[in-house]
Amino acid sequence: MQCDRLWTNARLATMAGPALGIIEKAALAIEGGRIVYAGPAADAPRFAPRESIDCEGRWITPGLVDCHTHLIHGGDRAHEFELRLQGASYEEIARAGGGILSTMRATRAATEADLVATAFPRLDALIAEGATTVEVKSGYGLNLLTEARMLRAARHLGQVRPVSIATTFLGAHALPPEYAGDADGYIDHIVSHMLPAIAAEGLADAVDAFCEGIGFTPAQTERIFNAAHAHDLPVKLHAEQLSNQHGAALAARHQALSADHLEHLDEAGVAAMAQSGTVATLLPGAFYFMRETKRPPIAALRAAHVPIALATDCNPGTSPLTSPLLVMNMGATLFRLTVEECLLGVTLNAARALGRSGEIGTLEAGKRADFAIWSIERPAELVYRMGFNPLHARVWNGL
Ligand code: NIG
Ligand code: FE
Repeated sequence: MQCDRLWTNARLATMAGPALGIIEKAALAIEGGRIVYAGPAADAPRFAPRESIDCEGRWITPGLVDCHTHLIHGGDRAHEFELRLQGASYEEIARAGGGILSTMRATRAATEADLVATAFPRLDALIAEGATTVEVKSGYGLNLLTEARMLRAARHLGQVRPVSIATTFLGAHALPPEYAGDADGYIDHIVSHMLPAIAAEGLADAVDAFCEGIGFTPAQTERIFNAAHAHDLPVKLHAEQLSNQHGAALAARHQALSADHLEHLDEAGVAAMAQSGTVATLLPGAFYFMRETKRPPIAALRAAHVPIALATDCNPGTSPLTSPLLVMNMGATLFRLTVEECLLGVTLNAARALGRSGEIGTLEAGKRADFAIWSIERPAELVYRMGFNPLHARVWNGL
């Protein structure tokens, strides 16, 4: 049987099946950018590969999927970090015109080329740790011109780097100064102007909002969701990060791909997510950086079989984090997730959070040839270490 490349002497954590779908003494073959075999070497068809690679016992996992980032933005917020170290709160800084609005100003002042150039080091850091798919949100433009520019910059990243980019329109991230005191007016504007233009240009793969006391109300969020449905775009939500607004249940009623953050999620929200199959995307980097103390209800999510994803939330204000490996370590240490949950959280369940689990997220014949090869002795090492990168090689789209 012909194939482009064959990896032998490998150990696989396929993420398909129980216990990480581990297969020792395995082989993996790809052809035309797709996996054609991932299984026991003894059962493999007789391949005639164009190239054969000896893995020397290394482990192969699916390529990592970072399913929640704000990778594209102007400027940074190191100064606000210093203010917080001196005792100022995130909300105080936001109310004084800092926070998301300070990044909005820097982002509006940046050209598309600037946005791409400043995102490269962050994206490259993710890629260097085995990421093959990265979600990127808008949300720092807060007007059509700049939101569209952010999304074009995100699409551009996917054309010039060996990585798949999933874009999300987050126009309802904060209230721009042009609409101060008129949140409903801004929602009108998003629904009637921004979203239709973004959808017409094919710039967004999904639509997100920030449902929060300092963000938008559930009623405003629902208007965004309805508009997204009208444009056939799936929805996601920043929900229950700082308070319980019952946003996750609202998201679930709208068949959201994911509800994200969830520190203040209640039992009813968990049940609604379980019913709709909405993924719980947990963001331990933001929890850590904001020194939060209330953890997401892990036991309830587990008991209800809600799929749990983990992501960097890479953003300048609450999670300046570009390490999916550290995210797994934080998922375990801060949220008490198991090694298995952490690994599923950055592979299969993160793919689900993007609606892409038919294409990526596991090592199975038919899926895209996106995977990472690690110099480790056991998969737990990927979760256990801090600040150490054992990536040996990475394959994206068969390349
Ligand atoms: O995911 N929660 C809202 N949005 C971001 C933070 C944005 C910012 O502070 O710049 C988040 O935490
Ligand atoms: Fe976020």
